[in-house]
Amino acid sequence: MAEENQPGVNSVVPDDEGREKFKKSDNVAFYKRQMQGSNMQYKALLETMVLTEKGARFELLESYTQTKLLLSVTPCKNDTVKILIDELQPIKPRFRVPDVVTKEPQCEPLRVVRQSQHSVTLSWSEGCYQVCVWHSPFRLEILCEEQVMVTFNSRGKLWFEMLQDPSRAMSQRSELQENNAGGLWRETFRQFEDIKANGPSSVGSDLCLHGFSHVYGLPEHADGLQLKDTRASEPYRLYNLDVFAYELFSRLGLYGSVPLLVAHKPDRTLGLFWLNASETFVNVYYSPSDQQGDQSPLLKKRRKQPQTDVRWLSESGVIDCTVLLGPGPKHLFSQYAQLTGYQALPPLFSLGYHQSRWNYKNEADVKAVDAGFDLHDIPYDVIWLDIEHTDGKRYFTWDPALFPDPAGLQRHLEKKKRKLVVISDPHIKVDPDWSLYCEAKDGGHFVKSREGQIYRGSCWPGESCYLDFSNPDTRAWYSRCYSLDKYKGSTASLFIWNDMNEPSVFDGPEQTMPKDAVHHGGWEHRELHNLYGFHQHMATFEGLLTRSGGSERPFVLSRSFYAGSQRFGAVWTGDNVASWEYLKISVPMLLSLSVAGIGFCGADVGGFVKDPEPELLVRWYQAAALQPFFRGHSTIVSKRREPWLFGEEVTSAIRTVIEQRYCLLPYWYTLFHQAHTAGLPPLRPLWVEFPSEEITFTVDKQYMIGEALLACPVTGPGVKEIRVLLPGSGEVWYDVHSAEAFKGGSNVVLPVTLDTVPVFQRGGSVVCRSAGSGSCAADFQWLPLSITVALNSQGEAEGELYLDDGHSFSYRDRKAFSLRRFTMLSGRLLCRPASKEGTFDCDTVVQSVTFFGLKRKPSTVIVRVSAGAGDTAAAFQFTETCCTLTVNNLNLRVTADWEIQIG
Ligand code: NOJ
Repeated sequence: MAEENQPGVNSVVPDDEGREKFKKSDNVAFYKRQMQGSNMQYKALLETMVLTEKGARFELLESYTQTKLLLSVTPCKNDTVKILIDELQPIKPRFRVPDVVTKEPQCEPLRVVRQSQHSVTLSWSEGCYQVCVWHSPFRLEILCEEQVMVTFNSRGKLWFEMLQDPSRAMSQRSELQENNAGGLWRETFRQFEDIKANGPSSVGSDLCLHGFSHVYGLPEHADGLQLKDTRASEPYRLYNLDVFAYELFSRLGLYGSVPLLVAHKPDRTLGLFWLNASETFVNVYYSPSDQQGDQSPLLKKRRKQPQTDVRWLSESGVIDCTVLLGPGPKHLFSQYAQLTGYQALPPLFSLGYHQSRWNYKNEADVKAVDAGFDLHDIPYDVIWLDIEHTDGKRYFTWDPALFPDPAGLQRHLEKKKRKLVVISDPHIKVDPDWSLYCEAKDGGHFVKSREGQIYRGSCWPGESCYLDFSNPDTRAWYSRCYSLDKYKGSTASLFIWNDMNEPSVFDGPEQTMPKDAVHHGGWEHRELHNLYGFHQHMATFEGLLTRSGGSERPFVLSRSFYAGSQRFGAVWTGDNVASWEYLKISVPMLLSLSVAGIGFCGADVGGFVKDPEPELLVRWYQAAALQPFFRGHSTIVSKRREPWLFGEEVTSAIRTVIEQRYCLLPYWYTLFHQAHTAGLPPLRPLWVEFPSEEITFTVDKQYMIGEALLACPVTGPGVKEIRVLLPGSGEVWYDVHSAEAFKGGSNVVLPVTLDTVPVFQRGGSVVCRSAGSGSCAADFQWLPLSITVALNSQGEAEGELYLDDGHSFSYRDRKAFSLRRFTMLSGRLLCRPASKEGTFDCDTVVQSVTFFGLKRKPSTVIVRVSAGAGDTAAAFQFTETCCTLTVNNLNLRVTADWEIQIG
């Protein structure tokens, strides 16, 4: 397809009449109503307080309209506080987001500490935390040790439009329809009209974060890591959209949304989780000192500190805001994972390198590319097929001429332990001769229009219907479509890619589904727009899971996402461009996703649109090899760019970093185990590991991979030297390639060549790598290990290694895993179990151990195997120039207990 015919191609350029394709906030009626309207005056009726095992309830009264809301405040055992506001007596239920929160946390019993006509203070958690509800104007403070941390409704922006009975509102409606300035019942954008079945129903509120001047999160935006003050710019928009070649440094909505904002200061990390799936805007206002309007006497003594005000505005639903109290970044990640779920533990192969393009033409092409990797000695795990593999863009089918034997193709790859991924989009071609279309139609699985017909929109196949993934029956039906008997030509080594699931509708408003389309249960699309991709991802994950009888871990990549999507697999940052700016922005984009719980994320290597110059391609591979999801992908009109097409220098540079990625898989896999069990993202902003060092709070060119490695990829052309911040005074860092030691708390300037990929290991850490070579993750899986022990200034270090079979749920169902801990203390490196639980055993051995930062040459190195016969003296090499000791030929089983004593 020619580039100019791609539907998204002009997305950032106005059309012939100068109209933008996507809305800005001033095109959005509910946003304007809230921003321009005068404050609603709410009072908390303290005498209505009811304390139950679910927290405290109060009625709120709006002074002018006399309407009432119900406020519930629920403090939970995991140090979170949920604030829920709904109408006291709605004429019908308002939409509440389903399926995102995995487990409502256990509530803490509340005690009344103080009560007056002005306020009531309640405490929990042995009195450490308190909430104080103020009567008039209503506001709610969350305190820790008598200090206010967060104020809800601090600026009185609480906004709640009551549902109206459309028939009773009818009388006023004709007038409103004539003069619909507020967009209450009807709103137009370009040629699109949105009829609001329930009239205006928007909600909003503001929260003040006291003492904070750095906030993060709220993906997905093509912007820096620290959120910007929005006074002079667009608010952050959370509205999932298909934006081809998206604009950089923009707050406009992209493919996915996670309404989690994370605030950080040296002694506290807080989160605000606004659970609302309708179109949402967030304004961020930084202030160097507390502003007027906070009347609390408790705040008076703290007037000098900075604050950040965050204002959330959503088109519909209820106010469901959970405040996560930290206190540290890692506590916060755990609290968030307890709420929305943990990262799925990926099958090991999916942490290897993925090769994709739109499109590999036919079976011969796929086999040739696959062979090319072997020929050029470059490991890879997965080759991908885009939409052209199907029979006329009918997902779950194969083009009979191009892919006549898909199962044979998968077997061909599987012999080399490699996999195939195919695309499966949510739109279904209107084709009465296609059984899948008929089944979906007859089963009532499509989204409906406002008029009650099956909704039709256009996408790759032309006229299409859209599966209603919000319906659990549709999800169950869709999941069954992935069973091996139903999905002809599929085998157990086929995995799935869900694209276009914002959903993308070429002829829809903002290239998506009209908000007045109707889903299961009669809910308008506006209520759940941001959940569409999440639910498809969920159903696909389920499909792959049940395909194996629940025993094999699925791999599913999705373009659209919401809070909780981490439970279903990976996401990527969509249609980026082959330019240095897009390479640069990929780092903060992936960090924002990571902070918001989406740990398995990546960007198209090389850039999707246009053709990268070789230097850019190399730099992109170098950066992406150090990021969680590692896939090369490009658009249909791009030139071929398999790694060996640009001359030996480029091939060799790419080979090197892909090999290094494979060698580091034991470490990546251990990080994913931590994400899966503790909610820690594999990729971390520096401030997560150095929470008290303010200098790290604005860094988004560098990042931590786990707690041991600091990466600073080169993201510019012709770079001759690079400046790297090594945080932590008193810390030591080691260049992983040269073992050279550097002091923490300083910037270092390194010379750069095309091969340079700056990575440092933090003193005090232990990192395991595979030693040797192979052609895919399965080859590397049981290779001998080489361990790098990077000593801190006390000569100590610690690290973990997680092992299991790499593909099944045996680690969960039969505890078939092994978690090992390496501890270096007083000149002895111990290898011990980190958990007594695991039952997994394997023959993998530790072949070599390298110690960075050993002050003097040892006289002896003794190896002692706990279950073995006595001590053995080991041969070793000591390199004085970089204080490095290497002990080779160890042959120590990694699942056994042993120690190495340096004398
Ligand atoms: C849009 C996706 O973002 C891109 O990765 C894919 O190649 C095309 N759709 C075609 O399926």
